[in-house]
Amino acid sequence: MNTQPSIENISTILVIGAGTMGRQIAMNAALAGYTTVIQDISEDGLASARTELERWAAGRVAKGKLTQQKVDEALGLLIYSTDLDSAAVTADYIIEAATERLDIKLQIFEKLGVLAPAHAILATNSSTLGSSKVAQATGRADRVCNMHFFNPALVMKCVEVVRHEATSDATVETTMELARRMGKEPVLINREIPGFVANRLMGALQKEALYLADAGIASLEDIDTTARTALGHPMGPFELMDLVGLDVVNFIAQATYAETGDEQDTPNPGIASLVAEGKLGRKSGSGFYDYR
Ligand code: CAA
Repeated sequence: MNTQPSIENISTILVIGAGTMGRQIAMNAALAGYTTVIQDISEDGLASARTELERWAAGRVAKGKLTQQKVDEALGLLIYSTDLDSAAVTADYIIEAATERLDIKLQIFEKLGVLAPAHAILATNSSTLGSSKVAQATGRADRVCNMHFFNPALVMKCVEVVRHEATSDATVETTMELARRMGKEPVLINREIPGFVANRLMGALQKEALYLADAGIASLEDIDTTARTALGHPMGPFELMDLVGLDVVNFIAQATYAETGDEQDTPNPGIASLVAEGKLGRKSGSGFYDYR
């Protein structure tokens, strides 16, 4: 087989991490007809992913959005595994969606560089770490890039394909085409910048929203309403932060600040205190809003 990445070489996809993002990315791949391994070190994480995806699939059928046959086929293409080594050996395309920690990602990518077939692209879904940070560890830096999905990944159309200096054109083209085959509208980010494009746009809006609320200009609710009713956003900035998770929002802000050192990027202390209180947004039952 040709060792250059190519869409034609892809039949099996490995998604590493069965969390909020990984599980829905994997379902996108299965719906596109790929045999898809979801790998996680936690059996509980895999069980929870299976339950959510089966429930989602049943909901799609009940709503008449997908046929029973289509969801059965997709669910039948999903393989749940805790064994990264054997999954890596048979994967033609790998999307890492593990914990946002460089030390963990470095270990994973080093292993993938050894075990994955030569033609396999090693992508990361990371929103904070450009793939250049892990590329050298793989021994195939040209076949490494970010393939960044958005929450909820079964709904949001955007995929940011981010190249680093050594990413090859074949890797970019294959990744863009794979995203299209998953029903997405990929955008190409030509070089790494903290936050890429979407999170920079979102961050700018969030920053202004936090300023307006902190200054008592308007309530959280009214700021969110304005974003929805004046600008046509599907949800307001505070609702969106609660959806994304305040820990994730805080982590992105910290990572951006660590990289730029720009005072304007200083993380918001109000969000940090909510996180310290365990108020992480929807997933913990409360954040800016109460969901209990
Ligand atoms: N998983 C799967 N599908 C979901 C879902 C979920 N968690 N939440 C909603 N949906 C689906 C629903 O099933 C429904 O599908 P159909 O219309 O096909 O039946 C559709 O989305 C709309 O859902 P609802 O009617 O329940 O609610 P809504 O109209 O308010 O939409 C929303 C919900 C899709 C989340 C919408 O509010 C939205 O688009 N919000 C903005 C989301 C956003 O900006 N995401 C990016 C976050 S940033 C990020 O992810 C990057 C990062 O690095 C942090």
